Amino acid sequence: MNVNQLKKSVALSAINYISFSDVIGIGTGSTIKFFIEGLGKKNFFIKGAVSSSSSTSLLLKKYKIKELYLNDVKFLSFYIDGADEINMFFEMIKGGGAALTKEKIIAKKSKKFICIVDEFKIVNTLGFFPLPLEIIPMSYKFVKCELKKIGGNVKLRKNIITEHGNIILDIFNLYIYDPYYIENKINSIPGVVTVGLFSLRKADLILIGTKNGVKIIKKI
Ligand code: A5P
Repeated sequence: MNVNQLKKSVALSAINYISFSDVIGIGTGSTIKFFIEGLGKKNFFIKGAVSSSSSTSLLLKKYKIKELYLNDVKFLSFYIDGADEINMFFEMIKGGGAALTKEKIIAKKSKKFICIVDEFKIVNTLGFFPLPLEIIPMSYKFVKCELKKIGGNVKLRKNIITEHGNIILDIFNLYIYDPYYIENKINSIPGVVTVGLFSLRKADLILIGTKNGVKIIKKI
């Protein structure tokens, strides 16, 4: 099985957790694309979904899944999304697709976060994948300077403007031994909109696509 097949199998397995009466939050990326396609092809009509990006909104439209807006929704049963890395404490790096801010808001609002990943995303220590940050453009040099105190090599992601008109920095080679501390520390820098570290709002359930089937990791 190649990575895409693993992504597809894990994405389709997540559909079993959803019921007709649910309003769900939906992330962004290649794994979630398989989830939306699966939902659409099954003709499985949920009440609606809150989208984390314009690319996800387009897919919802294509598969006739009703898009709802966060401000109009009282309760989200699940947030379903992939991750760039996840550890066994359910903490993640996300934002490879630059949709981290909406992803974090919707994840926080949702009752349960189901993270769907292929087995290559599982790590002991977060940080091999560059840590993304969405920042306000005028704060670029200031934020870069502040990040030097934390470590790693900061690079501006080229040719990307987020859906909120901001820019993305990626921190390379920052091995994150205390994700909770680092998330709080980076979030407190003025100019930072969001850091793609999900430790304050972790996943609740991890579904892992492996060559031997889908593995389910639940919080004890
Ligand atoms: C999007 O901003 C990200 O958080 C994605 O959820 C993450 O990058 C996983 O993407 P893939 O499913 O494409 O690997």
